[in-house]
Amino acid sequence: GSTAIGIDIGGTKVSGGVVDAGGRIRVRTRRDTPDRSHTPAVVEDTIVEVVDDLLGQAVDAGLPAPQSVGVGAAGFVAADRATVVFAPHLSWRNEPLRQSLGERVDLPITIDNDANAALWAEHRFGAARDVTHAVMITLGTGIGGAVLIEGHLLRGRYGIAGEFGHMQVVPGGQRCECGNRGCWEQYSSGNALVREARTLALANSPMATDLLARVGGDLGQLTGPMITDAARSGDPIARELLGEIGHWLGVGIANLAAAIDPEVFVIGGGVSAAGDMLLGPAQDTFARQLTGRGYRPAARIVEATLGPDAGLVGAATLGAESVREVAS
Ligand code: BGC
Ligand code: NA
Ligand code: ZN
Repeated sequence: GSTAIGIDIGGTKVSGGVVDAGGRIRVRTRRDTPDRSHTPAVVEDTIVEVVDDLLGQAVDAGLPAPQSVGVGAAGFVAADRATVVFAPHLSWRNEPLRQSLGERVDLPITIDNDANAALWAEHRFGAARDVTHAVMITLGTGIGGAVLIEGHLLRGRYGIAGEFGHMQVVPGGQRCECGNRGCWEQYSSGNALVREARTLALANSPMATDLLARVGGDLGQLTGPMITDAARSGDPIARELLGEIGHWLGVGIANLAAAIDPEVFVIGGGVSAAGDMLLGPAQDTFARQLTGRGYRPAARIVEATLGPDAGLVGAATLGAESVREVAS
């Protein structure tokens, strides 16, 4: 069997793994993502560190040497699959990422959008395996989107198709890192979840007592996974916050169904770990807002089989496939 390195660069963390041809992660590692105050060079250092770490781990584990590196990046990747033209949550602006990494890594490198990579993994190994038309929505720092049509990833003329997180759902709404207002990811993402929880606590609402206790009163420490944990252990306000994120997820999905008409919506990213607490409200809103409801087949809304690992596995798989294409 052969192996490939996959790296998923999100808004808060970089996760990497050595993935085999069956989509299994054999060894893995992770780092924090250097935030927007850092230069692209610092992000590249982190990626190179992750590659070196994984190559070492592969040797120690007696795995076949990885033959490629695939990178899924949280940003707008140009049609050349080499340049990140823009990234709302990172410092990349027209960044020639493949070239910069190529100077430091001695393996063929493939770059794609993180959500595109996640959908590819779900299509190869997960929830979209037996379908030809699927939409992937990843809820993390922002919202990532990807479209599978007739079994192919939809890329758009310039590589940037599927940036659903920046569709306007609330005119004049919350300011987004992309510069616009009212973007979907301001209402349905990990960042939106944390912002709403903080707003509630800042209003001195007694409803936020349980959440505040989890961070010893320091709101800056509050994270999405903490809110999901609180919801799991029955905190009603944490459940309500997740329900709102789920509601907005359903609104966007109903719009996307009107435009794309897929068979399945696959929901991934960190927030999807909330499972039915998120998907239930999304399905309810979708059922009420789908245009033509009652007279048309309704798409299924399901959790990503590979969970938050979909991006990493997909990046590795896209990398391995492009090496094979070049060879044949
Ligand atoms: C970015 C996308 C990315 C998504 C998830 C969005 O804000 O525009 O490119 O896929 O966040 O990381
Ligand atoms: Na995408
Ligand atoms: Zn935006």
